[in-house]
Amino acid sequence: MRTALVCGAGGFIGGHLVKRLKKEGFWVRGVDLKQHEYTQLPTDDFVIGDLTDISVVNKVLDQPFDELYQLAADMGGAGYLFGGENDANVMHNSGVINLNIAKRATEMGVKKLFYSSSACMYPAYNQEDPDNPKCAENSAYPAAPDSEYGWEKLFSERLYCAFHRNYGLNVKVARFHNVFGIEGTWNGGKEKAPAAMCRKVAEVEDGGTIEVWGDGLQTRSFLYVDECLEGVRRLMDADFMGPVNIGSEEMISINGLAQLVAEVAGKKIHIKNIPGPMGVRGRNSDNALIKEKLGWAPSKPLREGIEKTYYWINEQVKLQKAEVKLNKSLYNEVSIGSCSLQDSCR
Ligand code: NAD
Ligand code: GDD
Repeated sequence: MRTALVCGAGGFIGGHLVKRLKKEGFWVRGVDLKQHEYTQLPTDDFVIGDLTDISVVNKVLDQPFDELYQLAADMGGAGYLFGGENDANVMHNSGVINLNIAKRATEMGVKKLFYSSSACMYPAYNQEDPDNPKCAENSAYPAAPDSEYGWEKLFSERLYCAFHRNYGLNVKVARFHNVFGIEGTWNGGKEKAPAAMCRKVAEVEDGGTIEVWGDGLQTRSFLYVDECLEGVRRLMDADFMGPVNIGSEEMISINGLAQLVAEVAGKKIHIKNIPGPMGVRGRNSDNALIKEKLGWAPSKPLREGIEKTYYWINEQVKLQKAEVKLNKSLYNEVSIGSCSLQDSCR
């Protein structure tokens, strides 16, 4: 039986990956700081642990796994990454995780290691025109990512490639472009634009107004998680190490994304553009290389993924409202109860 270690299994993409690997017949160990928030994972073994701690890394990486997927990172959307206040933690936590894993995977003779880099490593100077961003793999240098998160991703790509050159570690590197879907972070400050728009539209009345950061003309492309994993699995089986973009080429403005979500929800909305962390002006995946090397590229329309994600987030919003209501009524009961107790004690 093939064995896999998924680092960051309690997260969004890691959780989906565990399910996929189990369906493919792998024995899977997951490791994360936390359990998955939204789903029960079918792992064969799940370790709660901090991968910045080398003793944890040594413990979970105790055998020459056939495949290791390194997805663990201190990360979030624009609200978490581009305000500046999490820069030191993001660089330190993710950097140490990758330093630990690269070394230990080499020592243990891991057969293949996947590293999830990000489109945030591309230079800001190529992403100033929202209608014509350049994110071909060979446009990475001279390096000038616009965030510390992007710099750490670039450093760690290079780290794994150096372990490949010097120690023969078989690595695969992909640059994900904004991946979204069900069972991902949708509130709390780390959510990315697709989840944020779904939540805002789910919470607003028909005809109401939602807030969108920036002028809303900034552009991105968004990839549904199933296609992301299809790309990852194909890369793992290919005779090609990357780095390669795994993203959609269907670019849309953020106001356009909000309107698309509203259409899916069957609601009319108004958009109020407000100041907020923005990141680059435009970003889109360039899929020439993935087509050439894997003979495949993501092709599903954005709308399809947004439909699934909106319905899931709408359910989460309803559940949260019901919980708040229940908590309020429990609180009232308890306070009425303690009041009558006090009264009877008088
Ligand atoms: P996520 O935040 O849902 O998952 C990351 C997981 O790593 C979390 O569950 C977190 O608890 C875990 N983690 C963080 N620090 C850890 C530590 N010290 N020890 C153990 N676990 C730790 O994020 P995701 O969207 O699933 O992203 C997975 C990977 O893909 C990340 O490396 C991310 O940078 C990369 N990526 C994601 C996107 C995207 O749009 N989702 C885009 C580009 C790159
Ligand atoms: N998150 C969020 N929430 N973004 C919003 C909102 C909101 O309410 N309103 C508007 N936006 C805008 C942001 O200002 C940004 O310009 C754009 O939507 C996209 O934001 P995100 O989806 O949060 O992040 P990103 O695309 O800039 O970067 C993400 O993608 C990278 C890969 O492409 C990051 O999440 C990285 O983690 C990831 O590596």
